[in-house]
Amino acid sequence: MSHKVTLIPGDGIGPEVTQATVRILEATGVKFEWESFQVGADAFEKHGEYIPKDALESIERTCVALKGPVTTPVGGGFSSINVALRQKFELYANFRPIRNLPHIPTRYPDVDLIIVRENTESLYSGLEHEVVPGVVESLKIITEKASTRIARFAFEYARKNQRKKIHAIHKANIMKLSDGLFLRCCRGVAEEYPEITYGEHIVDNTCMQLVMNPYQYDMLVMENLYGDIISDLCAAFVGGLGFVPSANLGDHCAIFEAVHGSAPDIAGKNLANPTALLRSGLLMLRHLGEFDASLQIRNALEKVYRHPEKLTKDIGGQAGTSEFADGVIEEMDKAKATPAAVH
Ligand code: NAI
Repeated sequence: MSHKVTLIPGDGIGPEVTQATVRILEATGVKFEWESFQVGADAFEKHGEYIPKDALESIERTCVALKGPVTTPVGGGFSSINVALRQKFELYANFRPIRNLPHIPTRYPDVDLIIVRENTESLYSGLEHEVVPGVVESLKIITEKASTRIARFAFEYARKNQRKKIHAIHKANIMKLSDGLFLRCCRGVAEEYPEITYGEHIVDNTCMQLVMNPYQYDMLVMENLYGDIISDLCAAFVGGLGFVPSANLGDHCAIFEAVHGSAPDIAGKNLANPTALLRSGLLMLRHLGEFDASLQIRNALEKVYRHPEKLTKDIGGQAGTSEFADGVIEEMDKAKATPAAVH
């Protein structure tokens, strides 16, 4: 059986990390039928659309996409493709596990933290206008429906995966109505899960607490903007943006992508670390029920990280993006060739 997956390589370092990831995923022996599409500025130049209709139809059909980063112009230009895709397919839960890979020196060993970010509203609703020249307004939308849905997602995940503790992160001391509603929804859902400890922390304090002692947290649930910022902060615990995967999950579709952006400073130079997208690919494999393949890659990845010379430059190695992928595939081949695997 083969899996139909929509592939969006993105731009900047996107095509490089996507190609590396696809090669490694295919080396497991799992069969994929990739439906590949350009989005963003390149797509607009060629097709006159930032997200071509064919790409949207493909995601509707396959319900699973693997996506590289896409550049969003700052302070003008077209709206974020990422936000548009999340809203279009109601991918309301952004799931970001923050875990160390062995052998990478970081400030904090053995971090195991899960960030659940509401993905469809808050200040990312794109409702901005100029009231009068020199005054602009951005609307923060928080609804009971989306807040309850994301809280339930977090608690359900915790229950199924034996997680012990969830903190809702907020700024309800200032945004009493919007963040107040978010908290009320979280509290309501928390009551249905008495086995999971529930706590609340204000977002600015959370940043400080995280840096002082990330081990005090287990899972964090929060609205869109706080989740965006805090997940980058937490990426630094495990080596930086090159390591953190994410899944955008809805009731019908899922898009898997790295947390990092298109890194224009290193694009096209075979310098990018594909680990984050590859780890997103592992989340995708599990979503597709391919647990053995996911384990195969995870083991190989951990072995590669024992060899500094096989790593990319962002973590002090010598390898390029494609050589890094070769290294992971070599480790997978070696594992397949061991006597235990032959029988
Ligand atoms: P960025 O994540 O692209 O880069 C930040 C820093 O991390 C840069 O120094 C970059 O070289 C480094 N870096 C990022 N990924 C790396 C990797 N895989 N390997 C090695 N080094 C890596 O963030 P930035 O510069 O804020 O954003 C650039 C563009 O990406 C913007 O247009 C932004 O909107 C877009 N973006 C897209 C995302 C997506 O498509 N999901 C997510 C975040 C940003």
